[in-house]
Amino acid sequence: MPSRRLFVTTALPYANGALHIGHIMEYIQADIWVRFQRMQGHAVHFVGADDAHGAPIMLAAEKAGQSPEAFIGAIQAGRRRYLDGFHLSFDHWHSTHSPENTALSQDIYRKLASAGLIYRKSIEQLFDPVKRMFLADRYIKGECPNCGAKDQYGDACENCSSVYPAAALKNPRSTLSGATPVVKSSEHHFFKLSNPECVAFLREWLQLPGRLQPQVVNKAWEWLAGEGDNALGDWDISRDPPYFGIRIPDLAEEKYLYVWLDAPIGYLASLKSYFDAGKAKANGEARSFEAFLSAEDIEQVHFIGKDIIYFHTLFWPAMLRFAGAPYRVPDHVYVHGFIGVSGEKMSKSRGTGIDPLRYLELGMNPEWLRYYIAAKLNANVEDIDFNPDDFVARVNSDLVGKYVNIASRCAGFLNRHFDGALAPAAQTAQLGFEDVARLGAAEIEVEVREAYEAREFGKALRLVMQYADRINQFIDEHKPWELAKLDEQRARLHSVCSVGMEGFYRLTILLKPVLPSVARAVEDFFATPNLRWGDLCTQAGQTVRARRIKSYTPLMLRVDATQLETLFAPPSEAPTGRSPQTHAEHQQHGSPKETKVSEPISIDDFAKLDLRVAKIQDAETVEGADKLLKLTLDLGGETRTVFAGIKSAYPPEALKGRLTVMVANLAPRKMRFGLSEGMVLAASGEGPGIFLIAPDAGATPGMRVK
Ligand code: MSP
Ligand code: ZN
Repeated sequence: MPSRRLFVTTALPYANGALHIGHIMEYIQADIWVRFQRMQGHAVHFVGADDAHGAPIMLAAEKAGQSPEAFIGAIQAGRRRYLDGFHLSFDHWHSTHSPENTALSQDIYRKLASAGLIYRKSIEQLFDPVKRMFLADRYIKGECPNCGAKDQYGDACENCSSVYPAAALKNPRSTLSGATPVVKSSEHHFFKLSNPECVAFLREWLQLPGRLQPQVVNKAWEWLAGEGDNALGDWDISRDPPYFGIRIPDLAEEKYLYVWLDAPIGYLASLKSYFDAGKAKANGEARSFEAFLSAEDIEQVHFIGKDIIYFHTLFWPAMLRFAGAPYRVPDHVYVHGFIGVSGEKMSKSRGTGIDPLRYLELGMNPEWLRYYIAAKLNANVEDIDFNPDDFVARVNSDLVGKYVNIASRCAGFLNRHFDGALAPAAQTAQLGFEDVARLGAAEIEVEVREAYEAREFGKALRLVMQYADRINQFIDEHKPWELAKLDEQRARLHSVCSVGMEGFYRLTILLKPVLPSVARAVEDFFATPNLRWGDLCTQAGQTVRARRIKSYTPLMLRVDATQLETLFAPPSEAPTGRSPQTHAEHQQHGSPKETKVSEPISIDDFAKLDLRVAKIQDAETVEGADKLLKLTLDLGGETRTVFAGIKSAYPPEALKGRLTVMVANLAPRKMRFGLSEGMVLAASGEGPGIFLIAPDAGATPGMRVK
């Protein structure tokens, strides 16, 4: 009988783009925790879904010339590759655009309405008379009412930091149509978050010891305790058409639920679809969806990032609590920080230098990334950094150099001289060897278990590596390679290698939540069924010495630093075959397949490009990069460093002193060799050859190209 029953989710990614390393990091964190719980024998139901509604997705679909359904369908179809690729063991993946979510969201809306927590109020908003839609702040630009700065968004000024309502902007225009918006009123539905009962409930919910991380409680408490201008406001939960979402029920008028209302309900919708598909039953849950939902013995756990705390610690528990049965409030919301790359924050539109699919396509091992991210994670809301050199070091020295190495040091001798059989523990003791594989194993088991449970994965892996160090030291000390030279040392050789192998077996159990695929290979190698946590110290673990190993094939290779170079290089450096949608922003030198002319863009879109004449002051090769040249460009006073994939076409000497054209306002991109601060323009086609663009005589560095 499982002792805990867990319902675990990760935040639902917006269905308007590819998954990025931030998503993958969140899924890896949750997946490790889930796999750990399963190894303890607990029952886990782990579900995800796409967050498919809202104006941005509706507009993105329109731009792509697709129906929203077709658009989100294509995105959803692409998720499998990531989930399988990184060994993410979701039991189910669904969508908020689903009949289950419509039914549940409308049910929750109705229940909140009958609880008296929803009211209607007319509000004035800016309306785009051409697009015929109300405009969220991010679709309005104008002059700052405070300092007059041009081109500011509808909520705050980037120049003077003042905050204002969109209607206060001077000369406002819609970024969707360019039209001047008009003020129009409309009746909105509000959720009464400020209701005293609601506030009292949230205070209590937040403060239950162990429910939330202390930092998260503090954050939510600040919002709850706000007064005056900072007082907790009611929540506007309706949107007018056109909108891609769920209709507000029982209303003659066409109105939709705001996407952030139906999004978390998507957790339950995915769970329902999982039940309806018979998967819950197959996973040992005999109850119906409704019974499961309201059951006291179920722990509901959400993994999310720090940017969406507000929704998950205020709105979501309040919605569930006041909707009432069968809904129950979340037991835990576990919040993680953000991942950046080489000290840089990830940009929403450009992602980071790491594209998860490209990582897989390059044949990089997903368990390297799982291990690396796990080693960096703790239970706090802290940002983490992906650093390429650190990645290579951790994977090669810890994972391969310490853990995998134990198997490769011992397996050969065991196979060659003992037909794969391990020596009985009694023999080891008789020969006077300290059995380091067993020594302290019980303590390590407890410490590592507690660390995984508390999501202190970095700590868990440090402890595991200390254990690996001890076993390696034991092998170093007893030098099996020397014992193997002497026939009379056979028994000693057998014992030393068997102690090492037992250690490796135990290490595999400790690492299995992080390295599921390696663990599967080790299970096969030892011809043992599904390793469980209990196998560490129970009878099953002690009988490892009775096992016979198969012949050894390397369980994991080292990372090659050039793989990271390729990962960070512009895509023209890498094997192609990528979808244009995810990589449109990276098509630097035009892939050979780019034969069709792209979609039209407006003159405004073109004007965003700041193209300049640049003089190539210096060009040099880059150690370790096959295709890159490092260019120093003079922009007429300013110099820039740019890495360009043109080495195959130009010897560096031939470039010095030449003029070319560069994109001067491209956001800098961290590459393995340094920061690339722009891009030079070059042509390429079906055949070989890259042709750098050059201005006619008379142009000087810094001139704008328009
Ligand atoms: N659709 C909402 C969530 C709805 S949940 C009912 C959303 N989507 S998102 O795609 O923008 O983000 C999904 C998750 O990825 C969030 O938990 C977010 O915090 C996380 N991350 C986004 N960027 C991240 C990093 N750079 N690093 C780590 N996690 C990040 O928000
Ligand atoms: Zn301003």
